[in-house]
Amino acid sequence: MTPLRIGLLGIGTVGGGTYDVLTRNLEEITRRVGRPLVITRVADLDTDLAKSATGGSAEVTDDAFAVTRDPEIDIVIELIGGYGIARELVLDAIANGKHVVTANKALLAVHGNEIFTAANDRGVVVAFEAAVGGGIPIIKALREGLVANRIEWIAGIVNGTTNFILSEMRDRGVSFADALADAQAKGYAEADPTFDIEGVDAAHKLSLMAAMAFGVPVYFEDVYTEGITAIEGVDIRYAERLGYRLKLLAVTIRREAGIELRVHPCLVPEDVLIANVEGVMNAVLVQADAVGPTLYYGAGAGSQPTASAVIADLVDVARLISADPGERVPHLAFQADQLSDTPVLPMDDVQTSYYLRMRLADEPGVLADVTRIFADESISIDAALQQEPGKELAADFVVLTHMTTERAVRAAIAAIESLPTTHSDVVLLRMEKLS
Ligand code: NDP
Ligand code: HSE
Repeated sequence: MTPLRIGLLGIGTVGGGTYDVLTRNLEEITRRVGRPLVITRVADLDTDLAKSATGGSAEVTDDAFAVTRDPEIDIVIELIGGYGIARELVLDAIANGKHVVTANKALLAVHGNEIFTAANDRGVVVAFEAAVGGGIPIIKALREGLVANRIEWIAGIVNGTTNFILSEMRDRGVSFADALADAQAKGYAEADPTFDIEGVDAAHKLSLMAAMAFGVPVYFEDVYTEGITAIEGVDIRYAERLGYRLKLLAVTIRREAGIELRVHPCLVPEDVLIANVEGVMNAVLVQADAVGPTLYYGAGAGSQPTASAVIADLVDVARLISADPGERVPHLAFQADQLSDTPVLPMDDVQTSYYLRMRLADEPGVLADVTRIFADESISIDAALQQEPGKELAADFVVLTHMTTERAVRAAIAAIESLPTTHSDVVLLRMEKLS
């Protein structure tokens, strides 16, 4: 059995986990693949750390290009991250005829169209199961398990760091800053954690899932992205009183005129499964025409869970390495020459339900004015909650709307904010029933 020789670039959180899991489970994995998968070379800037992590069983270098150009290497695993050197290394590995496994969603969301084209031209695979949902095999599901279906929508919690922060804040009353520091210490967060908390990481992942669901290019630039930094505890509590949980949701929906692509904090009914996904766990709900809804759940980040997905890709590549490139599963699930140019809908055209919180004067006729504005915009109210007025004779008024458009809600908000009896800006959160 000739071993498959692997070069690992970056032996940090995920790279270290990959090395450990592959070493620990090598015998079992070899029984599955039919030949051993061996990491023979490791590149990391910290060569001492790499030497101690590998215990001398792999050749260590600080020059990653020496690995991508090594004729003895069959597969390169890129676990450095970012779009800079990682892009150069991945393109160099492809140019040198190596198959590539990466967990780098940022790289693929921004440069995926270029990278997949280069890989197709060279006849090599770029596998990226770990890039979305950590250890959850969601890429496999979208690319293979669901291919009989016309996918209608996807809604997911795909960022472990923000889900961890929201859970810690809600359950244990931990501050935002402390919860983020904990997520960083546990190795969940990106090198630049603003990618997590501002929703960018979830947008990277959503653009990849949408491409595979709908057969469109990777549209990262068009994802509407809103993170969790502006969330106030009061809205988490009002949402709970109304029977909802607040989650950072990545949503893509196929509409007649185009596709919705959006990441934002979102109320979800507390009795749907996804509302109860806590901590670093991720979940992706896929609605498809034949199978109906399917839900994929598991650890969305962390060393060994992510390593599980990286190694699944290694096994896939090992099994397909001698297949004709034209017979392999396409990178983005659809044949590269069959992508459609379905547009991404502007946010104004998005259709969903809304949570709106406003502070109103405690005077006769105030609610009538507000409800008249909703009626003028053809917005139907689903539920409402009014707080007892305080000393300042104003009170929070929270409204849940039925399905409407973002355009109508924005117009209603502008009208409400211009009333002399409105004492605050209106807080807007979106809401998905997921049914
Ligand atoms: P880490 O920062 O823990 O690891 C990256 C490693 O790459 C470090 O050891 C770093 O060395 C090394 N490195 C940096 N530059 C170079 C270079 N030029 N040549 C060789 N090595 C280099 O990151 P993670 O393991 O957390 O993330 C890796 C990738 O996996 C990212 O794309 C991330 O988005 C993705 N990912 C991460 C998950 C997680 O839970 N952490 C989950 C899913 C995906 P040094 O420290 O010395 O700079
Ligand atoms: N920073 C990411 C997260 C890592 O928190 O989900 C997994 O992609």
